[in-house]
Amino acid sequence: MITLLKKRILLGISGSIAIYKVFELIRYLRKKQAIVRIVMTKTSKKLINKLSLQILSNYKVFDDIFYTNNNNIIHIKLAKWADLILLVPATANIIAKVALGLADDLLSTICLATKAKIIIIPSMNNYMYKSPVTQHNIKTLRKRGILIWGPNFGKQICGDIGLGSMLNPNIIIKKLKQYFNTPLKNFNIMITAGPTHELIDPVRFISNYSSGKMGFSIAYVAALLGANVTLISGPVNLLTPPGNIKRINVISALEMKKAVMDNISNQNIFIGCAAVSDYRIINFSSSKIAKKDNLIINLIKNPDIISEVSQLTKNRPYVIGFSAETNLIKEHARKKLIEKKLDLICANNVSKNRFNNINNNYNELYLIWHDGEMLLSLNKKQVLAKQLMKQIIIRYEKDNKH
Ligand code: C5P
Repeated sequence: MITLLKKRILLGISGSIAIYKVFELIRYLRKKQAIVRIVMTKTSKKLINKLSLQILSNYKVFDDIFYTNNNNIIHIKLAKWADLILLVPATANIIAKVALGLADDLLSTICLATKAKIIIIPSMNNYMYKSPVTQHNIKTLRKRGILIWGPNFGKQICGDIGLGSMLNPNIIIKKLKQYFNTPLKNFNIMITAGPTHELIDPVRFISNYSSGKMGFSIAYVAALLGANVTLISGPVNLLTPPGNIKRINVISALEMKKAVMDNISNQNIFIGCAAVSDYRIINFSSSKIAKKDNLIINLIKNPDIISEVSQLTKNRPYVIGFSAETNLIKEHARKKLIEKKLDLICANNVSKNRFNNINNNYNELYLIWHDGEMLLSLNKKQVLAKQLMKQIIIRYEKDNKH
């Protein structure tokens, strides 16, 4: 699939010495059949020739805010035309101007006037990049939803070694393809992740070894593919992955159930990746229990969250469960698939003599549907998350085509 086909990409070129890489980038973009328009800043024109870019892009290059054509105001026209504005290479100066909302030349004015996504590819000396003011500007831009790709670490043209070099054009193209590959756009996906803690008293709890890494990897991939993700997480030591992810932190199974049920009504897909504690303590002690020779704790079964989701009669999402097993992996998982009325279950082996994958970066998954199965062999959880989402999309589309 050509994901850049007919995408309208406005390149905003500013005056960094890495500007030479733009020639190759334009060639790649046009090869992928994107439509490229170019706006240059005053300093960039001191480094490269406007005519070369005009020939490469096969279109007039713009640099003058007062340019008009049939009374069209150029900055508004270009701001509306673009599907995406790529500031490449982006100097510390253009980054600062966009962060501040300055509009003193054509490029900065377009950035202020556009509704299109802006992606910034920084390129500058590593001290300029590291400077608190540039870092502050980058943080501000990220908060506004502007994407920053790169920079690379390495030997710079000035001789310094550090962070500041522009990404190479082939990497930019790869990231752009990923950016435009959004089969889950307008999809709402809810994911539960991590363990739950069931309190015995204010300082003790029962739980399990779940790290949350698999669920967080799935959340990251789903957001990358364009989904609106709701990530309901038990207590884990993980940062929320970048992207359109709303995270709700919970502690216990009951809290997780409430968070799920409160937000389930508009979900297209539910992925129960959490290792929900099977039991909770009947009589939670609000003060610390004193040490005794024998302590008897009475447990009661927790509600099965995923079963409640799969039994919804109104707005039932496509339901995917996980099954961590130490023996008879597929048999046990298939039983849960049926009993919990799931659409798909992902079974994994968590026996110690395997790779202790419950708290690990690697995993192996058996995907089991009612009418078939597939092995996703041992791999990093991030890779597995991509492979899993691909299968989910294929099956979801097939099962929802009536
Ligand atoms: O713990 P069990 O092996 O039954 O987990 C299978 C699936 O059920 C998982 O997707 C898990 O997230 C979900 N589950 C749940 N609520 C529970 C127990 C498990 O949603 N109380």
